[in-house]
Amino acid sequence: MQDNSTFWQEQAKKFKDDVKSVNFDHIQEQMEIETIAPLLSQSKVICDLGCGIGQTIFSLIKKGVDAQFCGLDFTKEMINVAKEKEAQLQLNNVAFYHKSATDTDIADLFDFKFDTLISKRLLINLKGDLKLQAIKNIHNLLVPNGLYIMVENFMEPLDKTNQAREVLGLDPIQVHHFNEYLRDDFFNKISDLFEVERQIDPLSSYYFISRVLNAYESQIKNESPQYDAAINLASLSLFSNHINPISGYAPERFILLRKKGL
Ligand SMILES: C[S@@+](CC[C@H](N)C(=O)[O-])C[C@H]1O[C@@H](n2cnc3c(N)ncnc32)[C@H](O)[C@@H]1O
Repeated sequence: MQDNSTFWQEQAKKFKDDVKSVNFDHIQEQMEIETIAPLLSQSKVICDLGCGIGQTIFSLIKKGVDAQFCGLDFTKEMINVAKEKEAQLQLNNVAFYHKSATDTDIADLFDFKFDTLISKRLLINLKGDLKLQAIKNIHNLLVPNGLYIMVENFMEPLDKTNQAREVLGLDPIQVHHFNEYLRDDFFNKISDLFEVERQIDPLSSYYFISRVLNAYESQIKNESPQYDAAINLASLSLFSNHINPISGYAPERFILLRKKGL
């Protein structure tokens, strides 16, 4: 059983189609979309598993990604918001489904397979074997040789960030009690199903600047750190111009995996 369903229901009820339903950091969200969109040039049928309010799908379409999209989420309230937005935008290439990523019959929803599947901060909601069940389902939803774009948080870079914070007298960033970040050895556990093709670490400069330097400046000014702080926005400008000098500090990594077998 997952212990976070009430949390996500409340987020959707409170924030509706605002990105805060799924992420308080809108700069990070923008960077995620700018990173994912160019990876989809060959993708025609895309699944967003754990799609929340459909934010990722709508943003990718706005960025010009030309494909059929299906979004699935286990929170009914999230899917309702996504469907309302889809109706408002009058899109004909998007469908949303209320379904858990761990349901073993998930692939029965479709009479086709996806060439690409994205999970963006989904697996971190699943603990222990539930993560592996979701991975088996992802494997099953994809065509042979299909692309799985995993955008998930890892413990090792968070530990590095917290070491830097400690040096500056900042409290460690805690993982929510209902989340379980991945560890580097996760790929060994799924190596019979997926091959790691490429790893990208686009967010480390931003993460170090916002969670270490801006947090430090805010602490010495006795203020709470703002997502829209000038230094964070400067970091976004640098990112948009492909200037990312720091690596290894962002918990969120982008991993391109290729489905093995049938
Ligand atoms: C951090 S939000 C991310 C939403 C979306 N991927 C995005 O990046 O905008 C996590 C989402 O995962 C969904 N979720 C959690 N457990 C799930 C499960 N077992 N199956 C499907 N969705 C799940 C939550 O309802 C929530 O919408």
